[in-house]
Order: sequence, then structure tokens, then C-alpha cells
Amino acid sequence: MAVPGKGLGKKLWSAAEMAALLGPGILLLAVRYARERDRWTPRDPLPPWQGVGRVQGLEAIPGGVRVRFAEAELEAVFLGEDLLRLTWSPGEALPPYALAEEASPLEPERLRGPDGVLLLRTRRLALALGEEGLEVRDGEGRLLRQEAYPERAGRAWRHRVRLAPGERVLGLGERAYPLDRRGGAFRLWNRDPGGSYGPGEDPLYLSVPVWLSLLPQGGYLAFYENPAEGFADLRGEEAWVGFLGGAFRYYLIPGPLEAALSRYVRLTGLPPMPPRWALGFHYARWGLRTREEVEERVAGFLERGLPLRAVHLDIDYMRGYRVFTVDEGRYPDLPGLVRGFQEKGVRTVLILDPGVKAEKGFPPYEEGLREGLFCRLPSGEVVRGPVWPGLAAFPDFTDPKARAWWGEKLKGFLEMGVAGLWLDMNEPALFAAWGEPTLPASARHALEGQGGDHRLAHNLYGLLMARASWEGFRKHAPERRPFLLTRSGHAGVQRYAWAWTGDVESTWEGLRTTLRALLGLSLSGVYFVGSDIGGFSGNPSPELYLRWFQMAALTPFFRLHAARWTKRREPWRFGEEVLEGVRRAMALRESLLPYLYTLAHRASREGKPLLRPLFLEGGPYTEEAFLLGEALLVAPVLEEGARAKEVPLPKGGWYPWGEDRALQGPTWARLPAPLDRIPLLVRAGTVLPLLEEGGLALHLYPGAEGAEGRLYWDEGEGEGPYRLDRFRLLPAEGGFRLLWQGKGELPWPWARVRLRLFGKRLLRAHVEGEAHAAEEGGVLLPPFREALLEVEG
Ligand code: NOJ
Repeated sequence: MAVPGKGLGKKLWSAAEMAALLGPGILLLAVRYARERDRWTPRDPLPPWQGVGRVQGLEAIPGGVRVRFAEAELEAVFLGEDLLRLTWSPGEALPPYALAEEASPLEPERLRGPDGVLLLRTRRLALALGEEGLEVRDGEGRLLRQEAYPERAGRAWRHRVRLAPGERVLGLGERAYPLDRRGGAFRLWNRDPGGSYGPGEDPLYLSVPVWLSLLPQGGYLAFYENPAEGFADLRGEEAWVGFLGGAFRYYLIPGPLEAALSRYVRLTGLPPMPPRWALGFHYARWGLRTREEVEERVAGFLERGLPLRAVHLDIDYMRGYRVFTVDEGRYPDLPGLVRGFQEKGVRTVLILDPGVKAEKGFPPYEEGLREGLFCRLPSGEVVRGPVWPGLAAFPDFTDPKARAWWGEKLKGFLEMGVAGLWLDMNEPALFAAWGEPTLPASARHALEGQGGDHRLAHNLYGLLMARASWEGFRKHAPERRPFLLTRSGHAGVQRYAWAWTGDVESTWEGLRTTLRALLGLSLSGVYFVGSDIGGFSGNPSPELYLRWFQMAALTPFFRLHAARWTKRREPWRFGEEVLEGVRRAMALRESLLPYLYTLAHRASREGKPLLRPLFLEGGPYTEEAFLLGEALLVAPVLEEGARAKEVPLPKGGWYPWGEDRALQGPTWARLPAPLDRIPLLVRAGTVLPLLEEGGLALHLYPGAEGAEGRLYWDEGEGEGPYRLDRFRLLPAEGGFRLLWQGKGELPWPWARVRLRLFGKRLLRAHVEGEAHAAEEGGVLLPPFREALLEVEG
């Protein structure tokens, strides 16, 4: 699926960039490595595909059935009313790295269908095993999925899944492709596209073998628990899904899709509650050669009153790109720098690359050699391949010893107050002049003692680097919530890290591609996601920059970043108009913090996504808009010159931001989109908690039955006291009653609450018999249990 014509140009371009940065010697290393890798790439063609043969016998097992076929065996087990696991053998089951939950079998009802078909069912899900294949239905008997029995070719498995007319398939992780994956063919293989990518590039850094089928009758989710290289070909009426090794095991969960996604996230792990600062704005920039440069950039934000919460140090801080080192000449006294920033409310995040410079006398390399922590070739030799520091060795994160070692290495940084770690190049990415930019297919991995090659373990590399970093973080900074940002990952990576979408090009197409990548990740259980504002690899026009900023302010991870060779792009470098637009986007983001924090809490407790396409909740299929939580509909401007936007509105009322009149969906509404504003709407029926200067505000957007909202708040860090407040607005004589119920140990942190009512003019509020007059901006009240809101007319 490479974009024709782009491949070679991009290769030459990135080679030139690499040589400029690292010297021409790196090109020679990249050629040598590609040769070496080819030598260690087994050329064993797949034997012919073969079916599993006829059913030979059946046996009841706890929660389901074991079916013997002539050439294989199937175990179908219910692990809950809404969770069915199918496992085909033979096949090497790998350690269950993706899973967080150990579900136990649930007894289904067992029936015999008309033509001898075996039926197993719970209230939510039914499985029918026929002669040629199987069928899955929901609790009402509606067909969800039909698949043929699989085929094997040596260690590889594949099967055919029927696609219904009008069925859409979503998920598969981060993709530069429309959200509906039908019509495409995708590789399940994490890959660094090498410094820049645009629409159609496949695969990208973070693939997830999860598939959501959107059917008129709801749909279902399938999760293939297999990290091996795989593919999903959705070009025809039937999809092919397969893996080149590992067990052929998958889980099926019935819709509705939003619930299925939450169920999947509980299976593979809820994302932990982030520290609150992480929801603020982050600044990063590759190419800040000195401490002074970083200080100058940070000061630039603070002097202009731009709310900067974190600064990321890219590879420039290291000594010759050696991981775990600091260049004392260019970055003297890093602890002092980190402390100084922290005093100004700015956290420091450090990049870490997995490759350890293969240099005699470099302690981490020597330790890794001594203790056998690096990936090796079948010959027993440690794999050494080029990346930023020159030749490097790669910790084998599938080895618990290597994970523990890595975690120990973080101690120094964490103790000096580094607040977060940015895990890059962890596909893993190597510089190869041609072919796969990663470890050789035959490289060995421990896989917890089981052993296996890189084809099996590759997709786990980012996940397990994140796990090792998480474990180190917990150990060495137990009082803090880990903040990890990763480029690569696999199912379950949400337990440890946030993700960003890597080196996207700085074009309008790149912006649209980014939205797709973000939503694809979110639909694959990776909820805390963001992109490099303005695109990574080029120079955005002022307009593109601002539109990107506006969208990013309404995605979970909000960070400015760019490649070393691009022009400076702090918000004040594009003129007054852009700076004002950025200010506005940042102020909106800051004010939404209570809402975002509450969403983060719901994600971490209930597995609810932050970013959701409208169709996830029964709205229209569109890529023009998305939901941020349940209450906000965001319609980013994705086209140059556009000053209005056609926005699809799902059923119900929608208040354009700041306006008093709700639009009624379902409809397409044309909203103004002047340069300084992103079209944003609030769902009627929402009580939206916002932060404003000096306190908290509740914006009340009544629907037909009033409105509801909640607020989660805690100390922003650690595991101390928290509180959960619920607000209910009910229509009442002459206006509304607003009920407030709080629980939790944390005292209410704000002296006053400002209420602002939309849709009706608020005259006054009565609390405990006292009347408070409303003004233009609403009414200011002390905390209350019940307030009566008197409205005009
Ligand atoms: C690749 C990453 O995607 C990018 O964000 C980073 O700036 C460079 N590596 C340099 O570390």
C-alpha cells in the first residue's frame, strides 16, 4: 500500500537528513546492516494452505466444547455472557502479554440444532458450529459473524470472515486509512515509516489486532490474541485474517460497539489515571542542542502567559545519543534544570530509545552483554544495528531480567524529578538502507523462557518496553503516577502508556490522516492519544498550524513537536493572528480540564473512550467530526481556506459553543469557522464543569429532561483522597432545580461556583432561602446541595 512515487524520494531525503545529522558513516552502516539482516532473514516459503478437515469428535469442557477436526482442534469457551474465546491448535501459545484479566469459564446452554449443528449460547451470545464453519449471533438471534473454519500453512493460520453488505470494519490500531477499513489490506506489524508519512502508508508504528464490526443491528468486536506478524485483507466480500505464527486464538464480544470496546479494554487492561498536569499543553522540539535553548523556549511560553505544563527533551540531551546519559557540556546540571522548571509549573519529560550504543566500556552495554539482556542472532551473537548512536544492541524486553534491568536504569532520572518518559523508536526501529527497518526475522527472544523469533516477538517490543518503564517508574517514584508516552505498542499498551502518532507530514492531508490515526487508536483501546501539532516533518502554513492546534487542543494528548530540520514553530512565530488563535485554543483546553480529568477517570474505571467517532454511539458514519467524551462534538477544520464547516449532528439537541440556541439533530448544520475558532458543540442535557479564573464553573445546557453532569477531582497526583460530584438539572416551576451530590474524602477545593445557563435567561438563583442575582456571566454561588434557578419568561 505504499504511495506510488513517494517511496524513493522519501528514502533519499531521509538518507540525506541522516547523513547531515550523524555523518556519512551512518549510510554505510545502514547498507551493511540491511545486508546483514537479509542474511538472517529466513527464506522459508509458506507451505500450501490446508483446511482443518472434517469434524471427528466433540467433547464438553468447562464453559464450552473441544472439537476434534482431522487436522486440528478447536476449543470454544465462554468467559462471560458477552465473551467467547476460540482457540485453534496446534500453535504455540505465547505468554499472554496483552491480557490484564483472567476470566473464568461460564457454562453456556448446550443445544443441538436442526441439522446436527451444535449450539452453545448465553443470554448475549450464541455460537453455532456447522460443517464448514461457524456462526455467531447475539442474544436476540441476530447474525453477527460467519466464518469458515481456518486453514494452516506450517506455523501460519488464516481464516475467511464473511462481510455483510453495508458492514463496516473498524479498528486494527493506528492506520493512515479511512476509519472503515473495508477496501484495504493491512499488515499487523509495527513499523517506522522513516521520518515522514502521509495518507495510505501502511503499516505504521502501532498495530492492534482488534476489529470492530459495525452492522445495522449493532455489531461486535473481535480480538485476535496473537502478536505475530499478521494481516487483515478486507478488499472483498470476505475478509482474510491471518498470522504467520503463534496460536490462532480470538475473542468475540457482542455489540453495541461502545460497550464491546469497554469490555475489550477491561480484558486487555484499563488505562491508569494520569497525573493531572499531563492533560495540559506539552512542548517538544527535536534539535534543542543546549540547555539554554530549552530554557529560552520555556521562557517564551511563560512570558507570554501561554500555559505550558510540560517540556519534552528529545535525543539532543544525551551524550552521543547514548541512552541513560546526559551531555554535561551542553546540558549541565539537569537536576537543577528539572527543578527550576518544576518550580514554574513545567514538568520535564525525557526521551528514551531502546538501542544501547554497542561500545566497549559503555556501562549499560557491558552490563547487557554480561547479563545476556540483548537480542541475539541464532548464532548466539548479539544483534548490532545502526540507530542514532551508531551501532546499538537491543534489550530483549520479553526477558523479565531485561525488564528489571531497564527499570533500574530509570532510577537516576526519576529521582531527579523527571516527570515522564517518552519511549521512541520502539517498533524497534533501526536504520536499514532497504527492507524492514527492524531486527532480523530470526533474532531470538526469551518470551519468558519459552523462546521464539522476532517474527513472533516484534509487535510486543513497544508494549514490553512500556511495561518495563512502567514497572521501573512505580518502583523508583511510587508517590507519583507514571507518565509514559510511546510510539509503538500492541493490545494492552494502554495499561502503561499514552501514544502519539509519530512523524506525520505537515500537510492538510497529514492533518486528516492524523485524525484517522487518532480515532483508529481510540477504537483499538488506546485512548490517550495525540499528534505533533503542525505535523512532524515539514513546515506548516500559519493556517494549517492553527487548525492543527485547534484540533489537538481537543484530543487527549496536546503537544507541539517537530523535526530538527523544520523551521521554529512556537506559537508566536506566525504573527499576531495565529498567536491569538493559539491563545484561544489553549484557554479552551485549560478551561476544559475538569471535564477532561473526569473523562480520564471514566476511562480508567469503566474503559470508556475519550475520543469517539459519532457512529460509535449510533450516530452517522463520518470522519468530519468526533466526540470528546459524551458531551462535546468537535468538527475540526481540515481544509485550507475553509471558514465554515458542514457538521453532521446526531439525534438530539446540540448547542454551538457559547450560544444559547440548540440545533436539532439528526441533521447537517453549517457552522461558522473563522480562523480563530474550531466548530464545537455541546450536547443538550449536559452539565459541563469548567475551570475559570479563580474557580469552577458549571455550564448548564438543558435538554427536554434537564441536564446531568459529573466531576471527578483529586490532588492531581498520587493515590490520595478524591471526590466525585454529580449534578442534576431538573425542570421546575419558573425555571430549574439544580441538585448537587458529592462524595469522597477530598474537600471541595473551590470557594465559589459560577453557574451559567444556556438556552434561557437566568434571572437569579436561590440557595437556602437566599437570592443571588445573575449577571451577564452567570451567577456566583457558594457550594450548595440544591439551588433553584429562576429564568425569564
Ligand atoms: C522519531 C520520533 O518519531 C520523533 O518524534 C523524534 O523527534 C525523533 N525520532 C528524534 O528523536
